[in-house]
Amino acid sequence: MSSQSFHPPVRTLMGPGPSDVNPRVLEAMSRPTVGHLDPVFVAMMDELKELLRYAFQTSNSLTMPVSAPGSAGMETCFVNLVEPGDKVVVCQNGVFGGRMKENVERCGGVPVMVEDEWGRAVDPNKVEDALKANPDAKVLAFVHAETSTGAQSDAKTLAGIARRHDCLTIVDCVTSLGGTPVQVDDWDVDAVYSGTQKCLSCVPGLSPVTFGERAMEVVKNRKSKVQSWFLDLSLVLGYWGGGGKRAYHHTAPVNTLYALHEALVMLREEGIENAWARHRRNHEALRAGFEAMGLSFVVPEAERLPQLNAVSVPEGVDEAEVRRRLLEQYSLEIGAGLGAMAGRIWRVGLMGYASSERNVLLCLGALDAVLSDMGAPIETGRGVAAAQAAYKTG
Ligand SMILES: Cc1ncc(COP(=O)(O)O)c(C=O)c1O
Repeated sequence: MSSQSFHPPVRTLMGPGPSDVNPRVLEAMSRPTVGHLDPVFVAMMDELKELLRYAFQTSNSLTMPVSAPGSAGMETCFVNLVEPGDKVVVCQNGVFGGRMKENVERCGGVPVMVEDEWGRAVDPNKVEDALKANPDAKVLAFVHAETSTGAQSDAKTLAGIARRHDCLTIVDCVTSLGGTPVQVDDWDVDAVYSGTQKCLSCVPGLSPVTFGERAMEVVKNRKSKVQSWFLDLSLVLGYWGGGGKRAYHHTAPVNTLYALHEALVMLREEGIENAWARHRRNHEALRAGFEAMGLSFVVPEAERLPQLNAVSVPEGVDEAEVRRRLLEQYSLEIGAGLGAMAGRIWRVGLMGYASSERNVLLCLGALDAVLSDMGAPIETGRGVAAAQAAYKTG
């Protein structure tokens, strides 16, 4: 067998993530590797933490990237905050709430599920009822931006309910960070995790997390050891903590951290409010295009995420064949449905660098071409014009 270098094609990534990476980020990643305890690197780490505080809109001193993807950020929150026997109210309105439940169980905790229909936001009334019925609950866990359906929940309201019941909050902001407001201090939430591969225009592989003081008190006063050595914050903080001292914990993914630093510098240059507005503007144009084509959204308008657009597959259309043709003919990736939504929806991401007018028009044009070629029941030739009109008036 003769092995050769791997040269991937240039794709346009408009699925649920990873999304397109800004070329500046890729360039930053290719800079020379230095030691993970090199003073210049350590200085960069401090800047990175400050930039993450800006992205999360927090002053939490424990704000750092976990050296692994979003799932590791999720586990960091659960393994550090949940001890055997702890009761956790978990909201599920899609795939990722189910993973939270798994995490609670694996920590020896007791999940109390609050279920909502997939495609809808978490219902605050149900959360209130669950916390009233379970006054001993220690944590409320919910997904802010449910990537499997494109629904956004009202984090501030849910956090307010948790506070009134003296409950900590764990919040999944993997798909929201950088794309729609994530305001950790204003929401008054306790432990939040995200990912780099969605709205931050960065490569996959890191999970920014932030823990507030209440959460840190709980971590400090644990009765049992955190069962994960790698994710135990009391150990990780020997490397990432404040105070200027840095000791080896694990070999940090040096070049991936350059990438995140560059992505966050770009977020600062753009201004986070401008990034949120860009995601909204492009969503409005894509929405106008989809609706003109006759495609309907899964999530009610008031609960939709601008960066993840879930639309129903028209009757009689082979959805996998559509995605295959988009990839083959246009090098364009869109996402399929997950879990209960598999085969019924497409998920079109407009995340980070991929949230652009160019991509909106490309997606609408390509989808129109493929669907009309397959004889699908759509209003052909209308999507691009409707999006262009939305950009003019929006
Ligand atoms: C809402 C949500 N939570 C958690 C994850 C897990 O992140 P990762 O795939 O980076 O481990 C994802 C990934 O898509 C996600 O969308």
